[in-house]
Amino acid sequence: MKIFLPRDTTTLALGGEKVVKAIRTEADVRGLEIELVRNGSRGLFWLEPMLEVQTQNGRIAYGPVEASDVAAIFDEIFNPGLDSELSEGNTGDAHPLALGNPEEIPYLKNQQRLTFARAGITDPVSIADYLAHDGFKGLENSLALNSQAIVDEVKASGLRGRGGAAFPTGIKWQTVHDCSADQKYIVCNADEGDSGTFADRLVMEADPLMLVEGMIIAGVAVDATQGYIYLRSEYPVAYQIMNEAIANAYAAGYLGEHILGSDKTFHLEVRLGAAAYICGEETSLLESLEGKRGMVRFKPPLPAIEGLFGKPTVVNNVLSLAAIPFIMEKGSQAYADYGMGRSRGTLPFQLTGNLKQGGLVELAFGPTLRELVDNFGGGTETGLPMRAIQVGGPLGAYLPASQWDTPLDYEAFAAAGAVLGHGGVVVFDESVDMTEQARFSMEFCVAESCGKCTPCRIGSTRGVEVIDKIRSGNNVAANLALLDDLCDTMIDGSLCAMGSMTPIPVKSAFKYFSEDIALAHASSL
Ligand code: NAI
Ligand code: SF4
Repeated sequence: MKIFLPRDTTTLALGGEKVVKAIRTEADVRGLEIELVRNGSRGLFWLEPMLEVQTQNGRIAYGPVEASDVAAIFDEIFNPGLDSELSEGNTGDAHPLALGNPEEIPYLKNQQRLTFARAGITDPVSIADYLAHDGFKGLENSLALNSQAIVDEVKASGLRGRGGAAFPTGIKWQTVHDCSADQKYIVCNADEGDSGTFADRLVMEADPLMLVEGMIIAGVAVDATQGYIYLRSEYPVAYQIMNEAIANAYAAGYLGEHILGSDKTFHLEVRLGAAAYICGEETSLLESLEGKRGMVRFKPPLPAIEGLFGKPTVVNNVLSLAAIPFIMEKGSQAYADYGMGRSRGTLPFQLTGNLKQGGLVELAFGPTLRELVDNFGGGTETGLPMRAIQVGGPLGAYLPASQWDTPLDYEAFAAAGAVLGHGGVVVFDESVDMTEQARFSMEFCVAESCGKCTPCRIGSTRGVEVIDKIRSGNNVAANLALLDDLCDTMIDGSLCAMGSMTPIPVKSAFKYFSEDIALAHASSL
């Protein structure tokens, strides 16, 4: 019988290995033949470790499973075996942790999974499994096209950079395509540093071959023969899985020279970062990849023209590259059919913070923030009412309930003074002190600034001091005006998003939650 238990970071953190050990022990003790597949997580994190069993009628799931639950689950699934015809009458759902068919769980069923369609279904590093689930079809189609036609297809899909800046991916590729150079590169930004985000990690741990395929297609499209995945060192499991997937892709002829018998070459390797948030900024990432300290470069020149080692380079986020196989398999229109306005396709939102049902929710752009959180989040973990939602990572705005009807769309969020960023959604209940959150945002900038420019390096430290004065009730009106001035200087005078976007959460916290100033003062007495 086939049993699935994920091998991703979240499942491991929740005791997945103990469950695996219990499964193996239980099978040995009972003398049962099982095939244990270490799949990726489906992203329903509150149900991990989620054990799935292949039955006559599709999969059934149990979760969250602890090692001590395994014996009782075995009693159910092997008595009689759910994979046999004798199982009639035993639907496997008598156990209290039974979830039935995982695809029917509303959290999953109500999503529009284009990028994460295979997550949790396949063995992430198995080429055979990937092929059996439409893998490498996008590459096959791409190899039959000329490079400009691939770029045109990506342009027509409307895909915009999923790292946060939302720059049209096809236009970036066109720039690199049009450069003539002896060497070009594809660099995947997998330095997923935004607090509350994990979608890149989930791609790499649940469906890494999709990223490999997306990068090969990018290479074929712009005539780049070398790719690098710049991966944050805090993701050791993704590092392991990604490398296994790459080795298998080499062995099967999808990487290296003469890909699938064509005249195309593409080499790929993973490089680890060293835990600096700023190395998620594309130019400091390139510096780091070149072996230097991760400092932000001036733009222009754009990396598309002078990037890694001074050569034309596509720098794309994991999610942007992971969307490519779908586009090249099903066609640009199939992707562009999802979404609203200029935000086409889907965005994998990452629900975190004070929520009962944290996890990955891939949806077409368009529903409101309130719909996303209400329909999937399951309410706060504490049971207290929600008060603030931060969207777009540590540089995103804190939004009060009055803003939650904003549609999940790049332009609508920009109009509300907010950003969708990389799709991170962090929920706070009414016990939050928003002045403390504002202080945290500035402090984050102090810790992560690369130090190149004064408004960010010095401004963030002064910002923390001014916020401390405001919180302690010291000359509040004058210090609020000073903070506003300081934020404007950071916005106007910083070289990169780190300094110019830190004021977004700070300003929004004081704009929408000003009543917390008096509360912070009172509690400091
Ligand atoms: P940007 O707007 O300067 O650039 C966007 C991208 O388009 C860059 O790759 C740039 O090189 C490229 N580009 C611009 N014009 C081009 C042209 N004509 N041809 C080819 N390429 C062109 O934004 P930046 O500074 O790269 O990113 C800022 C964003 O990063 C923020 O909006 C924030 O949401 C996001 N962010 C994401 C994080 C994460 O962990 N995913 C962490 C921190 C920030
Ligand atoms: Fe470095 Fe901050 Fe300037 Fe960005 S804004 S270049 S992180 S000092």
